[in-house]
Amino acid sequence: MKDKIGKLLEEVKAFNADSIDQIEAFRIKYLSKKGIITTLFADFKTVAPADRKEIGQLMNGLKNAIQDKIITLKESLESVAESQDKPDLTLPSSSPLGTRHPLSIVRNDIIDIFSRIGFTVSEGPEIEDDFHNFSALNFPADHPARDMQDTFFIEKDPDIALRTHTSSVQVRVMQNTEPPIRTISPGRVFRNEAISARAHCIFHQVEGLYVDTDVSFADLKQTLYYFAKELFGEKTETRFRPSYFPFTEPSAEMDISCNICGGKGCNICKYTGWVEILGCGMVDPNVLELCGIDSKKYTGFAFGMGIERITMLKYQINDLRLFFENDIRFLDQFKSTI
Ligand code: DAH
Repeated sequence: MKDKIGKLLEEVKAFNADSIDQIEAFRIKYLSKKGIITTLFADFKTVAPADRKEIGQLMNGLKNAIQDKIITLKESLESVAESQDKPDLTLPSSSPLGTRHPLSIVRNDIIDIFSRIGFTVSEGPEIEDDFHNFSALNFPADHPARDMQDTFFIEKDPDIALRTHTSSVQVRVMQNTEPPIRTISPGRVFRNEAISARAHCIFHQVEGLYVDTDVSFADLKQTLYYFAKELFGEKTETRFRPSYFPFTEPSAEMDISCNICGGKGCNICKYTGWVEILGCGMVDPNVLELCGIDSKKYTGFAFGMGIERITMLKYQINDLRLFFENDIRFLDQFKSTI
């Protein structure tokens, strides 16, 4: 009897299973009504009384070993199944790779072009006060841009609004930095406009600012000429038209030769051969003074452009709303290296 139990114990220990059916067959073999353990316990009657204690303990040990074995085998099968359910994060993705948003591509291009000639990137808050968005930029108190129809005010406080342009960042930079200053400020701006193919209430601008001794309009022209050629190609021509902004004097708007028809005339350039891409000018001495910069010692130029407009020209996109709809068929068409 002792030997028999010993052999059975070894058999049990050596048993292994790789399916739940095998474990069930094992259980039936040993623990069912007609199983080995039942027969063994029935034979117990024949054991001599002196051996009963020892044999009894061995039999209980065997029964426990069988039950433990069943539990361990089940647990290990479950954990294998679980690990097969978990995704393997090291596998390459089967879904298509994401692409950068066209506005991000163009913003990065612009940053790259200006950083090559020493411009840093600066940022400012999207919620601004009247001083930084308007007053410091020489906007008269009754300027229409301050109107409720253009500006989103925060909780009816006429002093706090969503910035209407990134020119507010040049004020902050000038307040906090000793010239020379050479910086661009990309960011989101907000205007209370009806949404259409040509206008949106949220869009993006890049502001540029250069303040130092002896900065001239020639520096402004040359910098923007370089920029236009870098972004739209070597053959690009530029022209400056006089314009007006409260914060620059003199002010201009810059056109580039139409990048679609090369200047011959098409419906994008309305058959003029030119398309407007930005506003610019020499920083008004009043603005320098309001920002704490000595206008007798320093001069500067500034410029501002809409990223949506530039992106539409560069990629021939004819509806501004496409930028905000996140349609994968649209976004998928843009690939970039930066
Ligand atoms: N802030 C102007 C706008 O939102 C753009 C602009 C024009 C910025 C001329 C400038 C500038 O810095 O010199 O329309």
